[in-house]
Amino acid sequence: MHPEFALSSEILYLNHAAVAPWPRRTVDAVSRFAQENGTRGAAGYPDWMKTETRLRDRLAELINAKSPADIALAKNTSEALSIIAYGLDWEPGDNIVGIAQEFPSNRIVWESLSAQGVEYRQLDLYQSAVPEDDLIGLCDERTRLIAVSSVQYARGLRLDLERLGSFCRERGILFCVDAIQSLGVVPFDLTRSQADFVVADGHKWMLGPEGVALLYVNPLVRPSLRLYQYGWRMVEHCGDYDRTDWEPAAAATRFECGSPNMLGIHALEASLSLLLETGMDTVHAAVAERADRLIALIDQRDFELLSPREPERRAGIVTFRVPGADPQALYRALMGLGVICAQRGGGVRFSPHFYTPESVLESAVDIAASAARRL
Ligand SMILES: Cc1ncc(COP(=O)(O)O)c(C=O)c1O
Repeated sequence: MHPEFALSSEILYLNHAAVAPWPRRTVDAVSRFAQENGTRGAAGYPDWMKTETRLRDRLAELINAKSPADIALAKNTSEALSIIAYGLDWEPGDNIVGIAQEFPSNRIVWESLSAQGVEYRQLDLYQSAVPEDDLIGLCDERTRLIAVSSVQYARGLRLDLERLGSFCRERGILFCVDAIQSLGVVPFDLTRSQADFVVADGHKWMLGPEGVALLYVNPLVRPSLRLYQYGWRMVEHCGDYDRTDWEPAAAATRFECGSPNMLGIHALEASLSLLLETGMDTVHAAVAERADRLIALIDQRDFELLSPREPERRAGIVTFRVPGADPQALYRALMGLGVICAQRGGGVRFSPHFYTPESVLESAVDIAASAARRL
């Protein structure tokens, strides 16, 4: 096992696409933070703010944003998407293009805009050979936004963000990417994807806790996004409490109304330090190798692969079905046997990270085969 991970030998952890285990350094950062809170309260707050600054720096590096001032910290992906959806100025008849099989948070928020006369057009991914072509085909002169996940949560399809991003740029359409299933696995480059919005909570591939999310907003779009949460922290002169006049901060902190999740910030900062020290190219290559290996094992057993086969079409998610076995029953059996996974997209979803030993992949597939036989 990688020295940074201390997972119990009683489980095989293949669930990074749901909630990841923490690296040791994150466990230590949280323990230190708890200890400090218990013994010194917030006496060290200036140092906590330095950790927050480092987190913004690391998130900017992770997506290749020009400045950490472009990074806001939200509560979670859903809140970040809501800040975008309810910040944009819609007109009746506008439309949004997305995917029918998206994770609920990246569907519901767009559907909710029907109350403002906004149409949400959804591509059925399972009927589409080249989803980028078909998403583009759904757009017309009233399309204001394309909203997709970089990697689909259920079966792990990875989209060509560059293609969608350059189409959006040419046509003056805004581009919103829920990157929670790719940040921390696949290198992300804003200059290539040309996304106007990037959102992702830290608890999956970024190896952090739940409850601290990245919200990137293109600085050219930022001033036009209507604000609907207000408080001491989102103002330009944050900390000058005696001041009675105020204006929203020019930086992305304008989307952060009140006290930050300092505990989560300490944890995520530590987790990202591991990924960035390792290097995202190295992490990606290691995850891709593990996904390839899983697919080879699945093929050997004659299971049915539901994830894409082409390496450029996937990230860390491998979803499969065992012919004749009910996926829900198989999932329950696997969990009962210590294989931590998920039931998604009509099959069982395995999601290893860069540190997952090959033996874990082999054992998990062996256990799936014998569990399926007993069902
Ligand atoms: C694509 C996608 N978006 C968002 C989320 C989670 O949203 P939140 O951070 O609001 O809990 C998930 C979790 O499974 C997801 O797969």
